[in-house]
Amino acid sequence: MKILAYHVQPYELDAFEQWQKETGIEVVLEKGLLTKDTIDMAKGFDGVCTQQVIPVKDEEIFKKMKEFGLKQIASRTAGVDMFALDMAKNYGIAITNVPRYSPNAIAEMAVSHALQLTRNIKKIEKCMDEGNYVWDKSLLSKEIRNCTVGFIGTGRIGLTTAKLYKGFGAKIIGYDKIRTDEAAEIIDFKDTLEEVLKESDIVSLHLPLMEETHHIINKDNLKLMREDAILINTGRGGLVNIDDLVEALENGKLAGAGIDVLETETLYVNQKIDPDKVKGTAVEKLRKMDNVVFTPHYAFFTDEAVGNMVTTALDNIKIQEETGKLRNAMNM
Ligand code: NAI
Repeated sequence: MKILAYHVQPYELDAFEQWQKETGIEVVLEKGLLTKDTIDMAKGFDGVCTQQVIPVKDEEIFKKMKEFGLKQIASRTAGVDMFALDMAKNYGIAITNVPRYSPNAIAEMAVSHALQLTRNIKKIEKCMDEGNYVWDKSLLSKEIRNCTVGFIGTGRIGLTTAKLYKGFGAKIIGYDKIRTDEAAEIIDFKDTLEEVLKESDIVSLHLPLMEETHHIINKDNLKLMREDAILINTGRGGLVNIDDLVEALENGKLAGAGIDVLETETLYVNQKIDPDKVKGTAVEKLRKMDNVVFTPHYAFFTDEAVGNMVTTALDNIKIQEETGKLRNAMNM
């Protein structure tokens, strides 16, 4: 068996090497993207995988794959919106994904953002830049054990994050349309989103982005949050109306925000850009605020998660080749 991996990044190399050692299967590593101009390279291989935001929607790609006897593109990601799923299916090409790579990676980033905010790290650093090392009353912190942490979305990542806060001794409340028994062991479920927003010192968002969750946090319900509360979003940018959030922060209606994801992030995530590109945008505004911790979609980025993304994608191909059965297929 021989697999071609497209768009391989330096941070993935160790995981590819380890998988090849363990399975004895050869994986050829290619830096370039999977496109209609590079698909010919896949001739003679038994499977292909990639991880890219650039669309794979050109019919030529699937036509050629069928001609070469290839049956699957294993995406080393959870989301597969970059693929023309139905078109691939028509050519008998399965698109597979990595449904979960490490909830702890995202959970730890969510908690890290919250701790930096509750302990005023950015503000303290700014004081030090000005030569001010005085214990200022305005920088007195809350302890997490005295906080109520509210979860919007208590699935895999929400619950993992809740368990971390439980370790600090926080009171945990939550809102989700599904209440699992496991989550109910540590989360005091509320009937409405509004109750969670009203009662929490820290609100942690862990919903998927769908029509019904788009801008689920907006100027109408940001008003319900306490002025000393903070909002953490490591879910999806579109969950929050960012202009409304910026306004609330600017007007002191909210104490702070920890943001890993923004609706406009395709403009900058995993790219080197001209800093002018974000001038005047929410990115620039948020980065300038000393009560905002901002990261450009880094929550997943741990050795464990990246390793699992590579390994699961390669296993998806191996399983189909060896058993004829599909695992993690998103279009069949
Ligand atoms: P999950 O599917 O395990 O949990 C989502 C929860 O949201 C479920 O319990 C579901 O019942 C609930 N939910 C869905 N729609 C709802 C609604 N309208 N009202 C109330 N509850 C609703 O998903 P998981 O794995 O916990 O992921 C959560 C989020 O984290 C996703 O948006 C995912 O895209 C994001 N994520 C972010 C990463 C990052 O690097 N920042 C990396 C990986 C995932």
